[in-house]
Amino acid sequence: MAHRPLACVILAAGKGTRMKSDLPKVLHRVAGRPMVGHVLAAVKALDPDHVVVVVGPGMDSVAAAVAPYPTAVQQEQRGTADAVRAAFGLLEGFTGDVVVLYGDTPLVTPDTLRAMVAARRQASDPAVVVLGMRPEDPGAYGRLILNARGGLEKIVEYLDASADERAVTLCNAGLMAFDGARMFDLIGRIGNENAKSEFYLTDVVQIARVSGMACAVVEAAPAEVVGVNSRAELAEVERLMQRRLRKAAMDNGATLCDPDSTLFSHDTRLGRDVIVGAHVVFAPGVTVGDGVEIKPFCHLEQTRVDNGAVIGPYARLRPGAEIGPNAHIGNFVEIKNAVVESGAKVNHLTYIGDARIGAKANIGAGTITCNYDGFGKYHTDIGAGAFIGSNSSLVAPVSIGDGAIVGAGSVVTSAVEADALVVSRAQQKAYVGWAKRFRERKQAEKANKA
Ligand code: UD1
Ligand code: MG
Repeated sequence: MAHRPLACVILAAGKGTRMKSDLPKVLHRVAGRPMVGHVLAAVKALDPDHVVVVVGPGMDSVAAAVAPYPTAVQQEQRGTADAVRAAFGLLEGFTGDVVVLYGDTPLVTPDTLRAMVAARRQASDPAVVVLGMRPEDPGAYGRLILNARGGLEKIVEYLDASADERAVTLCNAGLMAFDGARMFDLIGRIGNENAKSEFYLTDVVQIARVSGMACAVVEAAPAEVVGVNSRAELAEVERLMQRRLRKAAMDNGATLCDPDSTLFSHDTRLGRDVIVGAHVVFAPGVTVGDGVEIKPFCHLEQTRVDNGAVIGPYARLRPGAEIGPNAHIGNFVEIKNAVVESGAKVNHLTYIGDARIGAKANIGAGTITCNYDGFGKYHTDIGAGAFIGSNSSLVAPVSIGDGAIVGAGSVVTSAVEADALVVSRAQQKAYVGWAKRFRERKQAEKANKA
């Protein structure tokens, strides 16, 4: 069959007043990615020939977030049909199929979009396919009115619906698929004689029917088409997305000890037989290899953890942390922009920033890389098999050679040769019997006062 072109239009011009935010609504994040990014990812899976995002005036931040996809500006918020018309210029002459989506409905899946396109291409050749749903509470959604043959006859907006129409439980989820050859004319004919004086995209169905064209419905699970209009709905969508991501992680062979307390990002990648303890947060950009254990209360961001490593509890892996195979990162350890090579151990109360830690090196409790002087960041290099005693400060830029030992409590300010012992702290002095004499003197003073 010849390739039939596909275009996708994402409506994102809404101000999102109810979010009470300075950020455009579609840039609010779900699982670490702006909502509109989720919609684009679903759309991308269909490999469309054109994508247009409709934004409001001045929404440069949205345009930047969706680049390189082009944006069309809807000058005034005059309704969903008017928003689609704003994209017409970029779609001129297009006669393939056009899917219209909402930027604030981020849970929609590629499978549902494919089902809509397939329904659009079925033998009855509907001019419009509408995505329907049956939510528990149909509330103020538009209602889908079917005819006796089960075809779609019209969509009525809640405000314009009669009591009988409001009793219908099949609702408009908002997404539609059009035959591009007929869409421009049909949408061009939509007027604004309704309760809100808006140009309703939903009117397209009745206009198509009056012209004798078929319209069809594809149903989606309500959880897939929840729209975000408020912070509470944003939290609900986040919850649904986390549920989806947790299930995918477990399906792929990870154990989540307490799935409900594990937070993922859209791009978290876990290998096989990874064990994730309770209350672990994966911020964006984390890749974890096979057989890794992440104990409770860890936070990871833009980090790679290789096979067999053990992390936490209470570890923080910041951007640029690369934890090598079988390395151990323990409690209250922060690692930033540092490579920890194979089998190295950083187990307690430590800050490692801008550093390399060689294979099998052992970093004692309380070690700090002093990487920042208030102006620049400097590198610390620790060789393979080196041993850093507890409570050492390594003042960067500095290097510790392979197999060297740093005595506990040292402040290291210049390079240490391989296999050397370096100790840089005050010499220990002992005053024999001093403590006992001190106590006796104090007790005598107290007795004299009494
Ligand atoms: C719309 C549907 C309703 C459906 C509901 C599902 C219409 C007329 N009604 O109602 O049948 O049940 O979605 O959630 O389509 N937008 C623009 N420009 C505009 C107006 C809207 O870009 O001028 C964008 C918004 O940013 C949003 C989307 O279109 O992404 C939907 O707009 P919204 O105002 O939320 O429509 P609803 O009243 O919810
Ligand atoms: Mg809405």
